[in-house]
Amino acid sequence: MAEHTAARILVVDDDTNIINVVTEALAKEPYEVVCVNDPIEALRHLRSNPVDLVLTDLVMGQHSGVQILEAARSSHPDAIVMLMTAHPTVQTAITVLKQGAYDFLVKPFKLDHLRATIRRGLAHQKVLRENLTLKSQVEFLSAANCVSTGIDIDNYLLRVIKSCRAELSASAAAVIEMHPATRQILRRVYSFEDESLGSAVLDTTTLYELADTRSEEPLVRSTSETRGSGEVIRLSIGMPIIVNQSLHGVINMVAVSRFGQITPGQMDILRILAGSAGAAIINHRLYQDLQSSYMEAIRALTSAIEARDKCTRGHTDRVLILARELAIELGWRGQELEDLTMGCTLHDIGKIAIPDAILNKEGALNAEERERMFRHPLDGLKIIANIDRLKPAIPYILAHHEKWDGTGYPRGLRGEDIPIEGRLLAVADTFDAMLSDRPYRQGGSIVHAVREIKRCRGTQFDPEIVDAFLDLLRRGKVNLQGLYGSHRDFSELDAVLTTEKASV
Ligand SMILES: [Fe+2]
Repeated sequence: MAEHTAARILVVDDDTNIINVVTEALAKEPYEVVCVNDPIEALRHLRSNPVDLVLTDLVMGQHSGVQILEAARSSHPDAIVMLMTAHPTVQTAITVLKQGAYDFLVKPFKLDHLRATIRRGLAHQKVLRENLTLKSQVEFLSAANCVSTGIDIDNYLLRVIKSCRAELSASAAAVIEMHPATRQILRRVYSFEDESLGSAVLDTTTLYELADTRSEEPLVRSTSETRGSGEVIRLSIGMPIIVNQSLHGVINMVAVSRFGQITPGQMDILRILAGSAGAAIINHRLYQDLQSSYMEAIRALTSAIEARDKCTRGHTDRVLILARELAIELGWRGQELEDLTMGCTLHDIGKIAIPDAILNKEGALNAEERERMFRHPLDGLKIIANIDRLKPAIPYILAHHEKWDGTGYPRGLRGEDIPIEGRLLAVADTFDAMLSDRPYRQGGSIVHAVREIKRCRGTQFDPEIVDAFLDLLRRGKVNLQGLYGSHRDFSELDAVLTTEKASV
C-alpha cells in the first residue's frame, strides 16, 4: 500500500551541533527524520522525496534558508516550513513569514519548545489537509445532489471519476460497470489526458481480479518510470464498487507523480466516491426496471383498447415499428427514440373514452359521431396530462391527426407548426390504418397504401417525411411481409416505389 502515516521531517543546518541537538530532540517522536548539513543536498532531497515538514537554518554560508523555503513550497505545496536563526531581525521574520514559512525559531531554543512547535505545525497541516478534503467532498456532494434525481447515469459517473482525478491528481480514471452475476461489462465511462493511459484504465484485468479474489480493498500497484531527467512513480489504483456485498464494477485510476503517495484521507475520499458510483448504478437499474414495468402497464392499457376495437388489433405495435424505423432514418437517437416508443404506444389512448357503438360501428360515422371520434387526441391529453413520466407522449397524442395543409384536427395546425412527432407518426399511423381491416371495409393493398402516401405528400403529410418513408421502403428497411403477411399482393410494389413520382 502506498498509504503513509508517520510525518516526514527534513532538517537542514550547516552546523553539525544543531543537527545533533535536533536529532536527539526528535529521537523519541513518531517521525521519520532526515538531517542534512549541505543545502544543495537538501534541495536534491526535496526534489525526489515526499516531505511533510522542513526545519531549516536561515543562513548557511553562501546559501539561504529562503532557497530551501522556496523549493519546499514549490515541490510540496502543503509542507510546513520553519526557519531557525541565531540573529533574528523583525524584517527577516516578516519576509520569511510572508513567503510562506509557518514559524520562526530563534537559536538557541529549548528542546521542549522545538518539539511543541513541530507538533503545532503538523497539527496545523492536518487541519489544512482535512479542510481541502472537506472542500472537495462538499463540491462533489453538491454536484451529486443535482444529478441524483436526473438519472443521467453516464454524466453522473463522469462527475465521479473527474472528482477521483482531482483528488489524486490522476492523469486518467474510468468506471467500468459489470453485472455482478454474469460478469458482463455493462458500461464504461472514462476521462483521461492521453490515449495510452486511457487504455490502461479501460482494461478489465483489475476488475476481474477483484471479482476472483472477492476483495473489498482497493488494488494499488506502483511502478517507477523514467521521464525526462528523473524518475517518476506510476500508481495504478483499482477501487472496487461494491453494493450489498456484490461487486458491480471498478474505478480504475492512473496517477503519475514524483512521490507516488496516497494519503489515508485521499483513500477515504476514493471509498466515498466508489460508494456514490455504486448507489448511482443501483438507482439507475431500479429506475430502468420501473420504467419497463411502466411501459408494460402502458402496453396492457393499449391492448385493452385494441381488444375493444377488434379490427385494429396489432395496430399500435406495427405503427411503433414503422415510426421507429422512420425516426432512425431521420437521424433520431437515444432519448428521442425512447420518447417515440412511449408516444406511439399511447397515441390513441384517448379512444378509451369513445363508446363501443362508435368505435365498432359498421358503416360510416355520422357528423356527431365523427365529432366525438375527433376528440380522441384531446381526451388522450386529459388522461396523461398530470403524469409527469408520460409527458413526452403529448406531441404524439395531440398532433397525430394534424395535416400538413392545416385541414387536420384537433387544432388545424399547418406545416412545421405541427410538432415533428405528430408529422412523423401521421405517416406511419395512416399507412398502417390503410392496411388494417375496419368495421366498414377490408384492409387495402400495400400498393394502394404506398400510392396514397405519395398522393398526400405535401397536403396531408410533411413532404420530407414522406420522402424518407418511401426511401426506407425502397431499401427494404421495413419487413412489410412480416408486418402485414405474405398473402398480400407485393407484385407492383417495386414499380410503384421506383417509377411513379410523388405529387407536389
Ligand atoms: Fe388516432
